[in-house]
Amino acid sequence: MNHKFPAKIFIDGGVPEETNQAKKLLGFLDGQTTNPSLIAKNLKSRLGNGQPVLLTESMALEEYKRIVTEMNLIIPQGSISIQVFVDQETKAEEMLEQARERNKWIPNASIKFPCISEGLKAAEIACREMPINITLVFSQSQAAAVYESTKNAKFPVFISPFVGRLDDKGENGMQVIENILRMYKEGNRHIEVLTASVRNIDHILYALHLRSNIITIPLKVFSSWADLGFKMPEENYTYPVGALKAIHYNQDIVLGKNWQEYDLQHELTDKGVSSFWSDWMGLF
Ligand code: E4P
Repeated sequence: MNHKFPAKIFIDGGVPEETNQAKKLLGFLDGQTTNPSLIAKNLKSRLGNGQPVLLTESMALEEYKRIVTEMNLIIPQGSISIQVFVDQETKAEEMLEQARERNKWIPNASIKFPCISEGLKAAEIACREMPINITLVFSQSQAAAVYESTKNAKFPVFISPFVGRLDDKGENGMQVIENILRMYKEGNRHIEVLTASVRNIDHILYALHLRSNIITIPLKVFSSWADLGFKMPEENYTYPVGALKAIHYNQDIVLGKNWQEYDLQHELTDKGVSSFWSDWMGLF
């Protein structure tokens, strides 16, 4: 990392022009995250002119490839997360097939798998073949499973806890980042914690304060941060928790078990899987 920030700074979005704008604002960009909803939104607005889009699935996939290829031209050194498309029935083998295909799209791909059982089964194999990113993470227990399922990784592994979606339901999402970083201190540091679902400047400041390895920021929040001169947290920074409910560190969740022994269940993971799926399938 060749800049003053203690974290890698990514843009979260589905539009290459936004990648360009963010890079211009900051002067550099370490990477990009995308997801099926963001890509579907881009395709709808560009191809549909507000009308239903007449696309086939293979045309839409070609578009996804074209979009990330454009992003790659803007940040050739940057990591770009590309997601597999799954529902709760999708098997690990199919996820792997998608992953291997998407990994050929660009040189710096990181393939995103959802934090569900089939997703981690696929990730366990994929992490020996390509960089990966485990998405839709909402709990310390899921993070322990991610850690154990990827401990033989030969490529970078990111974990993406979604802080904003926890805040949206009144829980302190940033505390999950704090808890995961604390638990991972006991480990071999093979995972980079990527703060995702960022909604405001305090998410950025606290993620920097906590030394989250990566922060992915949507353009709207990116621009507000730019307006503040890309302000950093003060030494004595405290996160304004407000009325958010605490998510306490659980001492009983320790690394070192088989990943299948940890509780992977979280309602927001299930909700996230189905909304990514329906946003994508809604294109056809
Ligand atoms: C990250 O990789 C995700 O694309 C993203 O941060 C999700 O954020 P949202 O909760 O705003 O959809």
